[in-house]
Amino acid sequence: MDPDSSDEMIDHLVDFFDQIAPTYDSWANGQHGRVATRLVELVKPRKGQQVLDVGTGTGLVAHLVAAKVTPGSVIGIDLSDRMLSIARSKPSKNTKFLGMAAERLVFRPETFDLVTMGDTLAYLADPGDALSEAHRVLKVGGRVALSSQRRSLSTRAQDLFFQGLAPLARRHYLSFPRYSSDRSQFGEPRVLPQLLESAGFKVDLLTEMVTGGRTDNAREWTNLMAGAGPLPYTLIRALGPRYRMELEAEVDEAMGSLGDPDDAFRYHHSYLMAVATKL
Ligand SMILES: C[S@@+](CC[C@H](N)C(=O)[O-])C[C@H]1O[C@@H](n2cnc3c(N)ncnc32)[C@H](O)[C@@H]1O
Repeated sequence: MDPDSSDEMIDHLVDFFDQIAPTYDSWANGQHGRVATRLVELVKPRKGQQVLDVGTGTGLVAHLVAAKVTPGSVIGIDLSDRMLSIARSKPSKNTKFLGMAAERLVFRPETFDLVTMGDTLAYLADPGDALSEAHRVLKVGGRVALSSQRRSLSTRAQDLFFQGLAPLARRHYLSFPRYSSDRSQFGEPRVLPQLLESAGFKVDLLTEMVTGGRTDNAREWTNLMAGAGPLPYTLIRALGPRYRMELEAEVDEAMGSLGDPDDAFRYHHSYLMAVATKL
């Protein structure tokens, strides 16, 4: 079993997604929805297909795919009850949402025509097992479509901010479970195809989506970055008002240290997307 797959880490992650569920779709002006839309455009689901959406979250990918495959249907699986309940609350006749781990699918071999994983792989307890499971439940010739954040295209402002989180946690005697840094490589063009090929897929298409923007100040910056992952979220919430203000002062200073004012408070949201076939 992957050393990252401790129960503590899974609980921490599910707790994070449970907490952010109500604001997930509106985060960064609907960023997750834009990424889901692009992934579905790339994979072009066809009418009548049976689809599994792994780590479905609020069902952004699942609902877009469902509209394309009618009279086929989509099953979305996830571990976060709150994400799933938002997915279920959206109107649809051909979707079903189930609590299930990506690494332990209950479906029979060769059940689906398409498996989608929108920004999910890097969060899974055991990404290798999850890809093997996706392969097992796909029909021969079936396809998998994934998006994964490409961290190497983060801005200097993001790098500086995220590098400061672990020291900040230590300073406040806070300790949180974390995945190994290998996960931050999953969205790199030299890594994702390898992961897919190791699981028995042939990569058909690889493309990138890069978006970005700027916040106006440190408060907006920390609010935005809190939604970016379990560590910033838990840490920023744990700080309380006084230390939060201290953090914002440090963020202001760090942004000033970048030299070029154009770099301050600038962020990128970059994704690598892949479509691959089960041979
Ligand atoms: C960043 S969200 C992506 C949601 C959605 N696919 C999208 O494109 O917006 C990652 C999702 O993976 C789910 N997840 C994490 N670990 C999981 C696991 N082992 N099995 C199933 N889902 C998992 C989380 O609960 C979360 O909803």
